[in-house]
Amino acid sequence: MMGDERKRGKPLVLVASPFQGHMTPMLQLGSVLHSKGFSITLAHTKLNSPDPSNHPEFVFLPLSDNFSAIDASANYTKFLEALNNNCKMQLQDHLTRKIEEGKDEMNHTITVIHDNIMYFAEEVASNLNLPSIVLRSCSASYMPAFLALPRLHAEGQLPVQEVATEMLALAERVRTPSAIIWNTMEFLESSALTQLRQHYQVPIFAIGPLIKMARCPSTSFLEEDTGCISWLDKQAPRSVLYVSLGSLATMDETELAETAWGLAKSKQPFLWVVRPGSVSGSEWIEFLPEGFTEEVRGRGLVLKWAPQKQVLAHSAVGGFWSHCGWNSTLESISEGVPMICQPVMGDQCVNSRYLSYVWRVGLELENLEIKVVESAIRRLLVDEEGQELRQRAISMKEKAKYSLFKGGSSFNSLKDLVEFTLAD
Ligand code: UDX
Repeated sequence: MMGDERKRGKPLVLVASPFQGHMTPMLQLGSVLHSKGFSITLAHTKLNSPDPSNHPEFVFLPLSDNFSAIDASANYTKFLEALNNNCKMQLQDHLTRKIEEGKDEMNHTITVIHDNIMYFAEEVASNLNLPSIVLRSCSASYMPAFLALPRLHAEGQLPVQEVATEMLALAERVRTPSAIIWNTMEFLESSALTQLRQHYQVPIFAIGPLIKMARCPSTSFLEEDTGCISWLDKQAPRSVLYVSLGSLATMDETELAETAWGLAKSKQPFLWVVRPGSVSGSEWIEFLPEGFTEEVRGRGLVLKWAPQKQVLAHSAVGGFWSHCGWNSTLESISEGVPMICQPVMGDQCVNSRYLSYVWRVGLELENLEIKVVESAIRRLLVDEEGQELRQRAISMKEKAKYSLFKGGSSFNSLKDLVEFTLAD
């Protein structure tokens, strides 16, 4: 009771980033913390802003970022630097005003929880003597590899390409916050979490999967094509392959054709998300190979953006061909859906290795060729091998569920985070 009184209305300012894969867990975290009695302000860029009508429980603070789109071909570090510089003073002014208006009647201080790439928020919090906590939306297992980059670079073991240089610059940006929240589960990533606790020497709260903890309606920037659910309703149980490479990955015309013919030749039903603009030089699917649509008529659906959480929870879905973004990975694990792994960049490569060789709920796609694709799909959906992957995925889903129950690791970690936040 005392705890409930203390936390009622304690203000948290969450600073979200304009990437879909980062925005989603931040909104979910906000919703979870609101249900624990905190008052939530969500600071966000005007670029890719969330829909306030989906979150009437939050106060929204839009920050002018001076960008009209994310340019996938631009230098990522420079983009982040400009984004952080453009937003910094607006947040600082807002928080200064809030502090000057006086502490609220419960005498609460504001705590800032920020996305790791919105590092300006940590600086603002420190300028104003406010506590700050960072939310990480990648896997914990990725971080030991990421943190090793400067050493590998110094030892001459990294080819110096632009990508490597950009990643090094980012590795150096990782500072030491007062605590870190990780969207994961202890049972899944215990060894990485142990390493990270030693490395950072601050509390690390493994709270996940947030998708299963939050009561959030859609968090999508793009409109979800919910019509695919009635199509799924008509398919046999666990027969459909869901295909999506997340919110950022792009492909060229040849890769599109290999994917399309691989799907067609596998003879399995599929639901394929092709984001508008994700195929270089095209608006949407005008480069689909000739004859493909006729070949798969009645057996496959191509759409612009899916209600992914609902799709993965649907009993007709038997597998997920994914780029292994961390949200997609957690969403698949939470629903016991085995995967075909086609990582594109960053943490996805590490996630793919873990899915395929450590957790053994996925098959890594060796390369994007029709025969390889066709064989991977059949291995996953038709062969004995797929059954084994599915059994492991289902037992992982059960473990994920238990970690949320009273006494489970994510349940306890959330309790600890609440106490930690109230102590300030
Ligand atoms: C990025 C990185 O790729 C990822 O590795 C990192 O951990 C987070 O940021 P993204 O590439 O978008 O994210 O992938 P992912 O993390 O999987 O997030 C995509 C989100 O979009 C998921 O929550 C997924 O449910 C949603 N989605 C995707 C849809 O709702 N509909 C779709 O059609 C496709």
